Order: sequence, then structure tokens, then C-alpha cells
Amino acid sequence: MSATLSGKRILLIIAGGIAAYKSLDLIRRLRERGAAVRCILTKAGAEFVTPLSVSALSGDKVYGELFSLTDEAEMGHIQLSRDADLLVVAPATADILARMAAGLAHDLATTALLATDKPVLAAPAMNVRMWNHPATQRNLAQLKADGVRFVGPNDGDMACGEYGPGRMAEPLEIVAAIEAQFDGADLPLKGIKALVTSGPTHEAIDPVRYIANRSSGKQGHAIAGALARLGADTVLVSGPTHEPDPAGARIVRVESARDMLAACEAALPLDVVVCAAAVADWRVANEAAQKLKKQDGKPLPSLTLAENPDILASLSQRKKGRPRLVIGFAAETEKLLENAKAKRARKGCDWILANDVSPGTGTFGGTRNTVHLLAGDSFEDWPTASKEEVADRLAHRIAAALNGGVQ
Ligand code: CTP
Repeated sequence: MSATLSGKRILLIIAGGIAAYKSLDLIRRLRERGAAVRCILTKAGAEFVTPLSVSALSGDKVYGELFSLTDEAEMGHIQLSRDADLLVVAPATADILARMAAGLAHDLATTALLATDKPVLAAPAMNVRMWNHPATQRNLAQLKADGVRFVGPNDGDMACGEYGPGRMAEPLEIVAAIEAQFDGADLPLKGIKALVTSGPTHEAIDPVRYIANRSSGKQGHAIAGALARLGADTVLVSGPTHEPDPAGARIVRVESARDMLAACEAALPLDVVVCAAAVADWRVANEAAQKLKKQDGKPLPSLTLAENPDILASLSQRKKGRPRLVIGFAAETEKLLENAKAKRARKGCDWILANDVSPGTGTFGGTRNTVHLLAGDSFEDWPTASKEEVADRLAHRIAAALNGGVQ
């Protein structure tokens, strides 16, 4: 028995790879530790291991068909993933990873994977060339961004006679990864719903031109990643950036400030919001439906600006369903404390992270940040650090505040 796995319900999806034989041992190891294992064996998986072996080892019926009347009568395919605490895909072939990344659902395994709101852990197993193929790597990046976790593959001799990465992790390594996943239940932000805004916004002038700013999205993306690592159910609402998607957060991509506000409101109710986006203060009121053309002799087009909604203020000042903790940024070059206090009062948020953007600090677009946290009446000077370190520190500070009420 293992304290971590005892009583846990695991839905194991066995896809069609030679490594499927190792999944039989995995079932045994998980059950020894007190976990209940229910299995979906794909059609291709059943070419490698028999339903009878899987059923004998799991001590349960094996599910295989999406359109099986008996299966649906006993346990609907949606219920199958709802009933589990964790979905494990082992072996995760190149094919099933591609289908997961694309959100396909044409068999029971992929339907359960698409219908679930539970964590998913995949143990890839495939030929080294398939693993290295850009399509597989693209799918992996997508799945990581979707929050899927991975164990392996390992380097080694492969059944096909080649050598390299692609061997499925050993059953005990997969068990360790599953235990680590459940240990995450103790993460300090487990059960907390968080939202981070990040990046610039683009405000259209016409269908091809826009007004923007130089925000890279680095700090906001790092905060979303840090909150997700501490277990928060994190939504990242991002304007256009070149930053890679942080693992574990759900990304909602937007262009304009108005889209950003709508996406934030759609994510309510929330426990904590961090507004790190450099939202454009103004949009073009007379946005042209067609591309503006140069016309000889005619006056130059003139842009009329309208004020954008203030997302931070709007979320902070909600009468109903205000998040418990709303945090904003203030870019300042002087009188940091004074300006931060005034901004907090004006917007109604709880904390302000004032960042020093004086010339020479390299904050905007750079990798490091110097911030000062205004929480309550105190102003904490944080040492200059990488944006990831600032994000980690903020995430821990948020956890302490939400769990212990220190604000
Ligand atoms: N913010 C927002 N929506 C806006 C404008 C700003 O959510 N339309 C948020 C930003 O994400 C940030 C904070 O408000 O958290 C910054 O406020 P802002 O008034 O833009 O301050 P600065 O950029 O510091 O500029 P200024 O000094 O001109 O006030």
C-alpha cells in the first residue's frame, strides 16, 4: 500500500504500441499500492495485449468500444473519465498524442480524454524518428500547453532495432510520476481559480494596421506558469506575444482591450486576478472597415481615439463576484510608493506591484525586473531578479495571503 495511491482511481488508456506489455505490469504495481485501475484498451492496443490479461490484472471490466450498448448502459463514456482521479495514457503512441493534440474523439480512448476535466499523464512510446519528427514535437508542445504531463520516454534500444529516445518509461517510473501528480494535491494553490492578463493589446486602425506597445508578455506569462505550478487552476488571457505558452495554464488569446475584458469576465468566478497586461489606454474610435489608402492631394487620415475599458479597475470594482485578491502593476519612474498608493486607490485593487521602469533598468521587454509590492500599508522592496523568480515569489505570496489571510 502507498499512502499517496491508496484509494485513488486511475483510468489507464492502453494504446497500440509494443510497450503495451509493460502496462500490464503497471496495472499490477498500481493495484499493489492500493489504487483502483480501470482500463480502456484501444483497438490497436488489443493487437498487443489481450482484453483478458488486462481484465484479470485490473480486476475490472475492460472498456474498448465507443458505441457499445452494454458498455454505455453500464458506464457512460463521459462518466468513465469523471469517475477517475487521473487519466494515464501508457503507452502513448505518436498517433494517440496527435489525436489528443487535435482534440479528436472518434474512439472511446480519445473521447474520454476530450471529455475529462481530470489531470492527464502520458508515457510516450514510439520509434525514435517518430519521436523526433516535427509533427510529434509540435503535438507535444500543444499538449504541454494544454496541461498534459509527461513521463519519459527514455533513451535505449528499441524493439524496432534502433537506439534513441522513444522507449516507454518503466512501470515503476510511471508509478513515481503518478505519485508525484497526486502529491500535488497538497500544493498551496490547489482549488484556487486564478487569472492573469499578459502582453500588449492591439487596437485596430483598419483591417491591416493597429496601435500596440512594446510589452513582451514575459512577466505575465511567468506569473501564470508559477501559479499553475503551485496548483492553481490558471487562465492566462494574453494579447499578441511571442512568448511560449506556460505549462499548466489555459490560454485565451485576444487582440484588443475590449476582447481582453470580455475574456476576463467570461472566466469569472475567480479567487485571484493578476493584471500584468500592458493594455492600450486608447483605441481608435473611427476604425476603418477597409484598408486606408494613400490618396494624392487628399488630407491625411486622422485618428480619433476613445478610452478603453480599464480591466483592473473593472474587476476590482465589481459589486457581485469580486475576486478575493486583485493585483495590478504600476510602471513608474519616480515617487514609486506615492504613485502606487494613488493607483491602488483609483483602481480599487488590493495589491500593486510597482515596477521601476526608469531608463537603464531594462524592464520593458527585458528578462529581469525590479518590483516593490504594495500590500496593505507596507511597501516591500524585492531584489532585482529574473521575471521567473519574481513570478515565483508573487505566487508564494498569493498562496500565503489566500491560505492565511495575510494581505
Ligand atoms: N490596466 C488594465 N486595463 C487598462 C489599463 C491598465 O487592466 N485599460 C492595468 C494593467 O494591467 C496594470 C495597471 O492597470 O495592472 C496599470 O495601470 P495604468 O493606469 O495603465 O498604469 P501605468 O501603465 O503604470 O500608467 P500611468 O502611470 O500612466 O497610470
